[in-house]
Amino acid sequence: MLKTKDILDEKDKRLRMVSKDVSFPLTKKDKDTIQTMIQYLHDSQIEELSEKYDLRPGMGMSAIQLGIPKRYFVVVNEIDEGEFETYVLINPKIISNSVEKIYVEMGEGCLSVNRPVEGIVPRYARVTMEAYDMEGRKVHIRAREELAICFQHELDHLNGILFVDHIDKKDPFKGKDQYRAI
Ligand code: NI
Repeated sequence: MLKTKDILDEKDKRLRMVSKDVSFPLTKKDKDTIQTMIQYLHDSQIEELSEKYDLRPGMGMSAIQLGIPKRYFVVVNEIDEGEFETYVLINPKIISNSVEKIYVEMGEGCLSVNRPVEGIVPRYARVTMEAYDMEGRKVHIRAREELAICFQHELDHLNGILFVDHIDKKDPFKGKDQYRAI
């Protein structure tokens, strides 16, 4: 079982690596890693389990956050109380995006950033992702609002970028009026 301490902290230089494309079929190890990530993200969003196992809540995780420099990530999105949808995106890219940009008003969070960070991270309001599923089939996924932000945040991880990199250190709320808060 994956624990919060297994997730790399922002100080770890491996988070700065540009991850490499994955080839198919997936190895048993990668399949197991993906299952472990899904389990963590799911359990961490259920209060009873997150307390019991001391899991920091999160909805997305990239392989590099476990020190694996491969281009895949998992998102477990709570669509209703206790009801989740799971996404596994392998070799993902954005193939189209909205002009409109949004940001999380309360600030983005990351399982690798263990401190409060304020400031604006502009993200596309809507994106269409192209990726491969676990069987190596090409998929297209359209996302908007929070889910779109999550995909962009995770895609950044595959390129060695953390959300804090997008925030202007001197003026964290720069450009506030240009984007819509969610
Ligand atoms: Ni993150």
